[in-house]
Amino acid sequence: MEELKVRRFFYKNTLFKQADLFLKQSYQEQNPYLICKNFMQSRGLKQVHVYGETPLTELYSILIQMNLKKEDCFIDLGCGRGRNVFFVSTVFNCECMGIDIVPLFCKEAKKIAASLSHPPQFVCEDMSQADLSEGTVLYFYALCLEENFLLSMIAKLETLQAGTKIITVSFPLSDYSKAFSLLFSKKASYPWGKTGLFVNVIIAN
Ligand SMILES: C[S@@+](CC[C@H](N)C(=O)[O-])C[C@H]1O[C@@H](n2cnc3c(N)ncnc32)[C@H](O)[C@@H]1O
Repeated sequence: MEELKVRRFFYKNTLFKQADLFLKQSYQEQNPYLICKNFMQSRGLKQVHVYGETPLTELYSILIQMNLKKEDCFIDLGCGRGRNVFFVSTVFNCECMGIDIVPLFCKEAKKIAASLSHPPQFVCEDMSQADLSEGTVLYFYALCLEENFLLSMIAKLETLQAGTKIITVSFPLSDYSKAFSLLFSKKASYPWGKTGLFVNVIIAN
């Protein structure tokens, strides 16, 4: 159903359709879940099942509610294949960046980006080391990350400019730190079940 909706509503945007069909082609013979699991295993991490993809209809709905503008800069923290990034870049027409630690994801995404007239940027880096200062709207699908890593990421996010918005899946950042306030939340359906999307904002100190 989700894929039918994506094709029906968003393939009218020919740039998105082109990028999405390229993505499908690139991963015809390679499974992103397996690529990610193998990479996490090679790093000796305990938590290796960290891959999952956001339903684009849910991402669209929250970004519309947030009133994402052309002047915004969207960053997907742990972008995987980069589908969210291609989607936001082509549908919302704003600056976009995807950061992922898995080199193959970035290599494939960069090839597809090169075919677009206004290409989003892809960076192969540990998100905890990345420069996030340009971002005005960050997407942090942090499910299954190890707790210590999550805490260090939250400490990093706290240092961003006041007013920066961060979308989280399943929990608000205000549960962890007083540096964030919850603007609003909405119910969402992910492939693994019903959850919440939370729009957090960094408060001025
Ligand atoms: C749940 S998937 C989300 C994929 C994509 N953002 C989406 O919503 O469809 C999490 C991604 O985070 C990446 N990741 C995990 N730890 C990371 C780290 N320390 N730095 C950068 N990326 C990381 C994984 O490789 C994986 O692609």
